[in-house]
Amino acid sequence: MGLFLVVQALWLFLPAYVANMAPVFAMKVFPRWNSPLDGGLVLADGRRLLGEGKTVRGLVSGILFGAGFAAGQSAVRYTSFDLSDFGHGETGGVWGPLTIGAAMGFGAILGDAAKSYFKRRTGRRGGAPWVPFDQLDFVLGGLLFGWFAAWLLKASGAATTNWWMDEFGGSRWPALALLVLLTPGLHFLVNWIGYRLHLKKVPW
Ligand code: CTP
Ligand code: MG
Repeated sequence: MGLFLVVQALWLFLPAYVANMAPVFAMKVFPRWNSPLDGGLVLADGRRLLGEGKTVRGLVSGILFGAGFAAGQSAVRYTSFDLSDFGHGETGGVWGPLTIGAAMGFGAILGDAAKSYFKRRTGRRGGAPWVPFDQLDFVLGGLLFGWFAAWLLKASGAATTNWWMDEFGGSRWPALALLVLLTPGLHFLVNWIGYRLHLKKVPW
């Protein structure tokens, strides 16, 4: 149960992890497509609403990678090792995973952008580290929007059960706790690798 829950929690949250990394890849592939999410807006404190680091490109890449990854994961069928299918079984199609993955990706990027808002308000420059918020912003957003998508699928009748509640609700709350506890460490590891591969300018 213990190790299985860790693997399952990480697997279930993979769309949000991938979405959180997507903007860095997108920046490398489309460096010139960098219109900022905040439209360049400067607030009364003289600082940007979000900053140059949050772009439309990043948001779009997060949604696409989140949706694509969840759809791909739902196609992986485990017989003796149920790692969840993102509502695939309940909806009988790929729309459940696509919706949930897109929502998790959107939520991850939105959580990251919300953190940047507070980073700017507290006077931190773009790219400056802010532990542990840099590591956890997307977890909160990904979980929140993943829940909302699963609720919507159930409420609209597209799914017979609420995927999110099945996986994270009730007695499965330790999966949530594991995500919050393990993510900062994983985040540091992945960013350090990205830095060594010259994908990221800074190792955080
Ligand atoms: N990025 C993007 N769009 C987003 C998020 C990230 O284009 N919505 C790209 C930017 O090029 C950004 C890089 O990915 O510089 C790294 O992302 P992140 O560390 O989240 O942004 P920071 O530049 O550190 O900005 P902040 O201080 O606001 O977190
Ligand atoms: Mg940063």
